[in-house]
Amino acid sequence: MGLALMAGSAAAGEAWRDPSLSPDERARLLDAALTLEERIGLLHGPMALSLDGKPLPAGALGGAGFIPGVPRLGIPALQETDASLGVTNPANVRPGDTATALPASLALAASFNPRLAYEGGAMIAREAVSKGFNVLLAGGANLARDPRNGRNFEYLGEDPWLAGIMAGESIRGIQSQGMISTVKHFSLNGQETGRFVANAVIDEAAHRESDLLAFQIAIERGRPGAVMCAYNQVNGAYACGNEHLLNGVLKGDWGYPGWVMSDWGAVKATDFALKGLDQQSGEQLDGQVWFGPALKQAVAAGTVPEDRLSDMARRILRSMFAAGLFDAGPARPPVDLAAHGAIARQVADEGIVLLANPKGLLPLAPAVKRIAVIGGHADAGVLSGAGSSQVTGIGGDARSVPVGGEGALAFWGRMVFHASSPLKALRARLPGASVTFDDGRYPAAAAALARASDVVIVFANQWMAEGQDAYDLTLPEGQDALIEAVAAANSNCIVVLQTGGPVLMPWLGRVGAVLSAWYSGQQGGEAIADVLTGAVNPSGRLPITFPAGADQVPRPQLPGWGLLPTQPFDVVYDEGADVGYRRYAAKGLTPLFPFGHGLSYTTFSYGGLTVTGGETLTVRFQVTNTGKRAGQDVPQVYLAGIGGQPLRRLIGFEKLALDPGERRTVTLRADPRLLARFDEAGRRWRIDGGPYRVVVGPSAAEAVLTGTAAVTPRTMAP
Ligand code: BGC
Repeated sequence: MGLALMAGSAAAGEAWRDPSLSPDERARLLDAALTLEERIGLLHGPMALSLDGKPLPAGALGGAGFIPGVPRLGIPALQETDASLGVTNPANVRPGDTATALPASLALAASFNPRLAYEGGAMIAREAVSKGFNVLLAGGANLARDPRNGRNFEYLGEDPWLAGIMAGESIRGIQSQGMISTVKHFSLNGQETGRFVANAVIDEAAHRESDLLAFQIAIERGRPGAVMCAYNQVNGAYACGNEHLLNGVLKGDWGYPGWVMSDWGAVKATDFALKGLDQQSGEQLDGQVWFGPALKQAVAAGTVPEDRLSDMARRILRSMFAAGLFDAGPARPPVDLAAHGAIARQVADEGIVLLANPKGLLPLAPAVKRIAVIGGHADAGVLSGAGSSQVTGIGGDARSVPVGGEGALAFWGRMVFHASSPLKALRARLPGASVTFDDGRYPAAAAALARASDVVIVFANQWMAEGQDAYDLTLPEGQDALIEAVAAANSNCIVVLQTGGPVLMPWLGRVGAVLSAWYSGQQGGEAIADVLTGAVNPSGRLPITFPAGADQVPRPQLPGWGLLPTQPFDVVYDEGADVGYRRYAAKGLTPLFPFGHGLSYTTFSYGGLTVTGGETLTVRFQVTNTGKRAGQDVPQVYLAGIGGQPLRRLIGFEKLALDPGERRTVTLRADPRLLARFDEAGRRWRIDGGPYRVVVGPSAAEAVLTGTAAVTPRTMAP
């Protein structure tokens, strides 16, 4: 250690301060100036909460995590906060602090609007910077492999291209503000049941073509400073100690230059350092501080080379340099909360999906005078999802309903309603109508009110939380029966779903319209009312398939359900890369609502398709607004066959706004990896000879235009 200290500080000087040097060079110089103690200090840290009666770690702002800096060398501490839906304030650790609460990431994905992902990310980062944070634990990019996953609302749906683009743009937005973002949870954290012990089993090629591809795209676009490895095991090794995933794929094949931080309590051994983990986070949750004194001993014993320790520190420092953490001033800029609220509103506006409107009940006609609003706490606000992503929105919680439970749920067991009441918003927009509320506890009372109304709007909630999956896809707490009773009393019944993912709809044929509002954030009530009344023309599209029945889910019984939390089990992903709609297509299953589906108050037509081959596919076509209202469409391009072999893969989409009668030409160029298979033996992408068949349509299940072209067969770097 003495040697390292002398050699380091004497040789390196202050050259690392030179902002004209590359982040890698600055990190190399600065690492050389660190003592072994200081270096190890950068490699682990606690949760930034006061736990078990102990005070907040010295120097921590209070939030998710804290890594002390090195004041001697001006290395700032890493002040880490969650994350993708806004700056969180777990356990009210910063008393009374609130932040702009965005809709769920699944709602963002439903917007199919990468610009909103960027703006939402930049918005959160501005607030985080203003509170003194410099790391956002954002970028959730796990694919929705199970519609019951308790954290689907924090992710970006079931498609690797959509999830990769949206995560990448959100990370790019975050890091545009002088803040480090993560991408997480690497990889296959596909369910919450048994998340600390579950072993995800998947074929390598399938993994590359699905979840890993989403991460790869997100990392290329967003260049996140850190990757957070997952709790679960992947093919028999914990994700945070997974040589193949971390050293092999991430740092090897992809050449990732940043650092790998563990999820909170995901480290099991000091030798995870040899497998590619660079930093232990939330160390109070682990069995021991593996990357503290134990790591020092391992270096002394020669089991972890000192070089590797420098590599770990350099990766952290280079991301800090790259994000401008050293060069930024101490200023905490004021934030424009009104502008930030408007971003939350726009994500909600564009994320709400009109699923069904068979008789044109929506938008509400001006003649509608008696409206009943039922259930879902719509009098108070809009539902949000729970767990580490839970944001206390500006204005505080409108209502907080204790849920109870054990473990994670004991900590997070509150249904929080953001202060944006759909009931109030409707009343404000419809001064000439009488809008009456019933809380829905007694279906017969709700039905009586429905009978006396022109139109009835039922809010149906599915509260989801980190740490727990939905047992099945029914709406909980008897809400299906409530909807049946109300719809039987009045068929002019509109259902507004506030869910963390798909649910079954046994009542679908008996209601007049269905909206999926997900968790719509701190302005969600306003956005829902705007869509219901037609002030906003809905433009959301499903980022996840809604199954027609429980038997359509890949694993009808949730793996690990009912086991002791410490009992390991396998989650066998034998659907491989055929996640979501790809599997429905492969198996010829008809879902309730397909991926990509969403209605508008206007209509669109597609025509004039040309498909050009070569190095990749370039697809050009025209979209026309054939209706009477302005609206936004999301035309989607799918690969539908290679050499006569059918398949379905989203290879491009675009969100575009069109006035009535307006026509626009869309040109999309496919990322060649979306046309390829991963060749495991050759460890390369492989493009086979064609022909490549392409379809254009409004969802994964509807092909309006068809074309084919040849693509040059070849292999590509992994
Ligand atoms: C979650 C992460 C989160 C971390 C810090 C973990 O329980 O899985 O997503 O960033 O806690 O709060």
